[in-house]
Amino acid sequence: MLNIPERTRLTGGLDISRLICGLWQVADIEKDDGPLNLDSAADMLEAYAAAGFDTFDMADHYGSAELITGRMLSHVPQGAVPPVAMTKWCPEPGPMTAQVVRRGVQERLDRLGVEQIDLLQFHWWTFEHPAWLDALHEMNRLHEEGLIGALGVTNFDAAHLALALADGVPLVSNQVSFSLVDRRAAGALSELCARTGVKLFAYGTLCGGFLSERWLGQPEPENIADWSRSKYKRFIDIAGGWGAFQGILSAASGIAKKHGVSLSNVASRWVLEHDAVAATIIGARLTESEHRDDNLNVFRFTLDDADRAALDAAFGQTDPIPGDCGDEYRRPPYLTASGDLSHHLSAVPSALTTSPAPARPARQRASSGSVWEPLAGYSRAIRVGNRILVSGTTATHGADRCVALGDAGAQTTYILDKIAASLTALGAEMEDVVRTRVYLRDVTQWEPVSRAHGRVFGDVLPANTLIQAGALVGDYLVEIEAEAEVDPSLTA
Ligand SMILES: NC(=O)c1ccc[n+]([C@@H]2O[C@H](COP(=O)([O-])OP(=O)(O)OC[C@H]3O[C@@H](n4cnc5c(N)ncnc54)[C@H](OP(=O)(O)O)[C@@H]3O)[C@@H](O)[C@H]2O)c1
Repeated sequence: MLNIPERTRLTGGLDISRLICGLWQVADIEKDDGPLNLDSAADMLEAYAAAGFDTFDMADHYGSAELITGRMLSHVPQGAVPPVAMTKWCPEPGPMTAQVVRRGVQERLDRLGVEQIDLLQFHWWTFEHPAWLDALHEMNRLHEEGLIGALGVTNFDAAHLALALADGVPLVSNQVSFSLVDRRAAGALSELCARTGVKLFAYGTLCGGFLSERWLGQPEPENIADWSRSKYKRFIDIAGGWGAFQGILSAASGIAKKHGVSLSNVASRWVLEHDAVAATIIGARLTESEHRDDNLNVFRFTLDDADRAALDAAFGQTDPIPGDCGDEYRRPPYLTASGDLSHHLSAVPSALTTSPAPARPARQRASSGSVWEPLAGYSRAIRVGNRILVSGTTATHGADRCVALGDAGAQTTYILDKIAASLTALGAEMEDVVRTRVYLRDVTQWEPVSRAHGRVFGDVLPANTLIQAGALVGDYLVEIEAEAEVDPSLTA
């Protein structure tokens, strides 16, 4: 019988516990009570590590978590294998120059007091700002320099993870919400993981503790104080509400009784049995509660077909969480601890500039600053009254680099982000698009391009033309132009 959590080896050789100790809760505890004492908190992490829970997940904004982990690591005797420290860098969108990225990485190294970060995970708020690819390529240079052991991302949907991989970033992991309530990661992301070998780290697996006996048959809570439960209560509400959630709890409880384990064990087990999942991250409220012994039971049983059928029946009474992984940070319904992030996202600087068109000042134009626009005399996009016309857009990054060489689907994802950014700059959004024209160099690539188009426009359904172009300038496989019309009643 296992007395420590199962282990797994990630691509690149990082050996981790399949139950990771999550330290977001440090920030939650500290928001009321001030910073934790580093020495006593480090002692608590040492106790986790000694019990085999020796992989820790943190981030730049998790209060003192990096400092506590650094203190714990400083106690590791020379020659002993140290615990694994995974952290995240979540910069404000803006230019991701080599200096900006090095500064962000160096801050993590300094706070952890290490010469190499075992795994650095990158979060980006909006893919309309293209600098995320610069950040990942700069992080890769620092990986090659030895400052970062392995590269991961967090809250990336399948399309953007595929784009990063197609653009040559050697990502090994993606950290996403995945639970009995939020099953999005079992879809396109898991298929991509199967094709590429990227692994998932699942968080929210216990919905902040809601997926436990404690909430079975209980009335719906009001006035939730902690961040984690505030966040997952939003997921529960969107997934059909408290009644539908009780259906999941009840099914999991029956399975737990059958196997002689806890309801939380069933919730963790269901996620861990997905091939794409390397590990689940369980939040640890240091100084308050520990569930280590109970969580070890996760490795002492497996779910059978009847268990899965019982859970599937409960899922059938719930609503799927909309969109793909990470959408909860980028678009409604925002499912974050603080709720609606639209004000935060609208404060993100645009990569485009807008100005009146010189010959017709009533028209607004958006410019990417490319040398070609003044030379050839055109705008990236132009707004005439309520109509917005977006020029033929290719997967050009910066001055002249074509992203995702040879991958038409990934290029389409990148192009549609650029089109979205053009529309945003001119006061419109993708929902306003009434027509697209897609120029495709290699007609055999119609399917990935169509799927990428469908992912974005599946609910908008603009008029569309697909044109086979004998050739496109440069290495581009796809070029797309778009036309949008803003509903005047919405702008009045
Ligand atoms: N990348 C991201 O955007 C992101 C977002 C969120 C979280 N995360 C990561 O994921 C970690 C997990 O945090 P989370 O917020 O998602 O919470 P979670 O892991 O779903 O829930 C943690 C809570 O579950 C309860 N619990 C744990 N084991 C239990 C057991 N065996 N029986 C009953 N209850 C149990 C505890 O609640 P009590 O303390 O009340 O007992 C604990 O505080 C974070 O610390 C962070 O590292 C990442």
